[in-house]
Amino acid sequence: MNKNVFLVTFLLHMSHVYYCIEDPDRIDVVDMTKPTTWRDLAIYYGAVEKHWKMCINCGVPDLGTGIHLEHTGSTGSMHPAVIPSEYLLSRLSIVDVSTLTTLNPSVVLTLDVALQWAALKHDPKEPTLLLFKFGWTEEDNSRINVGACVCKVPGLSYELAEWIAANLSHVVGVATDTPTFESEQTREFASRTVSNVLGRSGIYMIENVHFRRKMPEQGCMALAMPLKLLNAPYVPTRLTAFCPSTKSDLHVVMALKKEIPIQTRLPNSRVYDVNLDEILS
Ligand SMILES: *[C@@H]1O[C@H](CO)[C@@H](O)[C@H](O)[C@H]1NC(C)=O
Repeated sequence: MNKNVFLVTFLLHMSHVYYCIEDPDRIDVVDMTKPTTWRDLAIYYGAVEKHWKMCINCGVPDLGTGIHLEHTGSTGSMHPAVIPSEYLLSRLSIVDVSTLTTLNPSVVLTLDVALQWAALKHDPKEPTLLLFKFGWTEEDNSRINVGACVCKVPGLSYELAEWIAANLSHVVGVATDTPTFESEQTREFASRTVSNVLGRSGIYMIENVHFRRKMPEQGCMALAMPLKLLNAPYVPTRLTAFCPSTKSDLHVVMALKKEIPIQTRLPNSRVYDVNLDEILS
């Protein structure tokens, strides 16, 4: 990547504009992360280090928002630390299946049903994070017994995971508000799991996503920021969404901007500010 290009500079510029212009089309920056604690991290990685048998297919709700590729047979090549940065900034497409969960709290989202959502039917045109909203709440975590490896969690069918891996080539990641993507159909298996079929295709999975407010299903961008922890198959991550704040068909676009050396800048010029009309196209 060109050294003159600084995303951070851009973000700083953007938040600057965001705070000082009263623009109805401003961009909302939404933190979708559930935090983790030092204690929970220590317990989890302590268990990993001691090679304790752990139930991964029910998820790890205590760890907060986490990211992984494959869970099992981790060789070191499929860890979150190897995900290219350009795949972590993506279009965010939200698939709200919470009405299905209301009817059946441990629903298996099948391929047939999923294809009713346009976001799952057609390959997106740009790198996309597919975020499944099952309507999971903190209280639902009581439906998970990690010790006994028993849980009632909605998830994806194996066929749907295969479809995403094979036919949605621009989907770089999938995310969910539940602690796991594994469903009743896949949870008992060691290799025929959602995380195997997606992870093998290089599609990362983010779990325990926090919906703190209503969000547009299209139009947002997502920035995932995993902890760059080496040799760990599962790491905490931050997930931030950038959304158009008004209810409209606007799409947020994030662009990189070349940094201009201070000495060649025009003094007090506003030309270096980000033009929101250009961002929201
Ligand atoms: C991919 O799409 C094609 C055409 O719609 C379909 O026949 C095939 O089964 C799909 N692949 C998977 C793995 O679902």
